Amino acid sequence: MSSKRASLMTSSLVYQGLALLGALTLSHLLLRQVFNLLRGIRVYILSRWWRKDLKQYGGWAVVTGASDGIGKCYAEELARRGFDVVLISRTQEKLEKVAKEIERQTGRKTRIIQVDFTGGLEIYTKIEEGLRDLDIGILVNNVAVIPTGNNAVPFLNAPHLEQAICDMVNCNMLSVAQMTRIVLPKMLARKKGLIVNLSSAAGFRPFRYFTVYSATKAFVDYFSRALHAEYKTRGITVQCVMPMIVSTNMTDNIRSTLFVKRAEDFAREALNTAGLTNRAMGCLMHAIQSHVLFTLPEVVINSRLFELLDEEYQKKVGERPKPKSQ
Ligand SMILES: NC(=O)c1ccc[n+]([C@@H]2O[C@H](COP(=O)([O-])OP(=O)(O)OC[C@H]3O[C@@H](n4cnc5c(N)ncnc54)[C@H](OP(=O)(O)O)[C@@H]3O)[C@@H](O)[C@H]2O)c1
Repeated sequence: MSSKRASLMTSSLVYQGLALLGALTLSHLLLRQVFNLLRGIRVYILSRWWRKDLKQYGGWAVVTGASDGIGKCYAEELARRGFDVVLISRTQEKLEKVAKEIERQTGRKTRIIQVDFTGGLEIYTKIEEGLRDLDIGILVNNVAVIPTGNNAVPFLNAPHLEQAICDMVNCNMLSVAQMTRIVLPKMLARKKGLIVNLSSAAGFRPFRYFTVYSATKAFVDYFSRALHAEYKTRGITVQCVMPMIVSTNMTDNIRSTLFVKRAEDFAREALNTAGLTNRAMGCLMHAIQSHVLFTLPEVVINSRLFELLDEEYQKKVGERPKPKSQ
């Protein structure tokens, strides 16, 4: 065989090998997209009618940050689905009002525990005592704060930065780990339990100008995933929920749209996904939004274009009244 012919055969083999590799890669990518699409349909659409029976987890649900916003709506929705609910939050009068309303509307029992989650270890004794005699099936770690509210502020420009850092670390991260420490042992003893942790799309990728908040939400994501991996074989499901924008005090009650969800709609849809996926954006519209946004590289999200979009958003929410609770 001439050396020219041999080299032609070699290059043809290389070409065919590369073509095969390309075809396999493309098929893999396509199959992954199809799988994700089918999974998305199951988790976010079919779950309206075909979802996990949460009552199997137990009789009581505990919700932190339950006097307003998403937490309040989780508590109401859990009561509608047959749970007695422990509401834990900062403002006694708001807690009492929500508890009374839940009891009136659903006939379920409630218990309230007033604490400020920006506190340290000392606040958890009161919570442990308040939960001691209960059969807790579901824990929703919802509470979180952004001391700067909706304002996009560079790290060093945040007012009262020293305190704001401690508040976010204690409220957004410490509470999640400590509440889990309190509730998990009994769940393990009964070999069943659901822990839902509210992270954020800001925990999915770094969000500039919300630096500490974004980092605390990444903690919630990692904590949830590791915990789920540790305990899933022992009957415990841990779900991390990562919303985009929901109209609450935290977002200055921005007008709801197709993508900006009302808190009650968000909580209902997010609860439908519990037990079906351990990492959810919470609702169909946020899943679509995040799928598009997070396929973009981080450099694009942190580019000037997005800065301009942020400014538009700031202008929009700046016209709204400031929240009382932040
Ligand atoms: N809203 C969104 O667009 C959005 C997006 C992504 C993720 N999230 C996450 O979803 C969760 C709920 O957010 P949200 O928008 O519903 O917030 P929100 O409307 O500000 O409500 C927060 C709840 O937590 C309570 N709370 C605040 N600070 C507290 C403290 N120091 N100690 C005890 N309780 C405290 C509030 O109680 P009082 O007001 O009664 O004192 C209220 O019940 C958070 O984890 C947040 O990070 C929200």
